[in-house]
Amino acid sequence: APPAWRGRAIVLVGLMGAGKTAIGRRLAARLGLPFVDADHEIEAAARMSVAEIFARYGERAFRDGERRVIARLLGGEPIVLATGGGAFMDAETRALVRQRALSVWLRVPLPILVRRVSGRTDRPLLVGKDPAAVLAELAAKRYPTYAEADIVVDCTDEPAEATTARVLRAI
Ligand code: S3P
Repeated sequence: APPAWRGRAIVLVGLMGAGKTAIGRRLAARLGLPFVDADHEIEAAARMSVAEIFARYGERAFRDGERRVIARLLGGEPIVLATGGGAFMDAETRALVRQRALSVWLRVPLPILVRRVSGRTDRPLLVGKDPAAVLAELAAKRYPTYAEADIVVDCTDEPAEATTARVLRAI
């Protein structure tokens, strides 16, 4: 049987620090598909960092841009797409992903996420806050929705190559 994603994009979802970009890059290379990072595309379109967009225009404006950028990216040839942690929470984006892509939730234990994002300054939702508290709150809010992804891959602290291999077996 052809793989479930044949002809469609593969969209990675999950919390900040889950490895969507690191795994997505490797997955794309293994599948011979282009890799695209949604946050990076938003930054290119706005000519501003995600942090700057949040600071100058607010989260709402960022979410609007994010929705448009993802719709554009899913309108073309199949790609591997890493989305920002909040993207899949948008009902419109979710409907589009469901229609055009195979979605994969990278589920990573909270302590690992906390360790990975600690000390980083590029995530506006974490600035000036306790990352453990923010991530726990986001997990409670988002996991029921992330669970709507087509496939869930449980990740550990293993090297990215090992997780990538696990995703490849799952899709
Ligand atoms: C966000 C996650 C970030 C980025 C923005 C908001 C979120 O992406 O889109 O800071 O709401 O979880 P990563 O998941 O790639 O860190």
